[in-house]
Amino acid sequence: MSGPRVRGEAIRIKSQAELETMRHAGRIHARTVAALIEAIAPGVSTAALDRIAEETIRAADGEPSFKGYHGYPATICAGVNDVVVHGIPSEDEVLAEGDVFAVDLGVIWGGYHADGAFTVGVGEIDAEGQRLIDVTRESLAAAIEQVRPGNTIRDIAAAVQGHVEAAGFSVVRALVGHGIGSELHEPPQVPNFVDGAGPYGVELAPGMTLAIEPMVNAGGFEVAQDADGWKVHTRDGSRSAHFEHTVAVTDDGCWILTAP
Ligand code: MF3
Ligand code: CO
Repeated sequence: MSGPRVRGEAIRIKSQAELETMRHAGRIHARTVAALIEAIAPGVSTAALDRIAEETIRAADGEPSFKGYHGYPATICAGVNDVVVHGIPSEDEVLAEGDVFAVDLGVIWGGYHADGAFTVGVGEIDAEGQRLIDVTRESLAAAIEQVRPGNTIRDIAAAVQGHVEAAGFSVVRALVGHGIGSELHEPPQVPNFVDGAGPYGVELAPGMTLAIEPMVNAGGFEVAQDADGWKVHTRDGSRSAHFEHTVAVTDDGCWILTAP
């Protein structure tokens, strides 16, 4: 087979029709994010938010991408404060004023996925927590600005890392973004840092679809896995933020498929 490859694996180029399908999944995703932002408040459990997300997705004829993925039991991943990713929602986990709260979720519609994440402060939060959120959001925007034909995965990675480290925060290295399409995770990997060997030389081409997802820690970049086999938290207990969009490379730039 011809076309772009990374480590021998084909990177699937999507047709315009496939991109339109992914945009539809992305619109359902954006609607779900809006419903969650409306509902997030002190006193709300992450399980209640999970129900809102699943109901919103199913009401739009979509399906949660994550539920059942390698046995993951929920629609959203809920990350309170030092949780980086893959926090399973729980009735016992109740949001409190001042929390830095990240939500990651995926939607399947028409056989294609849209994946995205956001982080918000619960009620009033301290200035440093807000700065962590803002810098992480800006680092995703800086990465998306690099998405155009001829640029490479290295340009995306360097944009995130440069913005985050200039602000005195660190980029998580153990987890990376990814290609996306009829599978939630497709080649290539999309790291948020440049370090040694990696898919950095992969050239972006029209029809590639990527989930770009900076995970940023206020302290060190190291993370550790909880005993439940899912939840990943910062090793030093510092807080973490996460933003993610699914984007398509177009002829002259990119299309943010999970944009509102
Ligand atoms: N949110 C992860 C990603 O963006 C995937 C979640 S895996 C799951 O790639 F198992 F938690 F669903
Ligand atoms: Co993702």
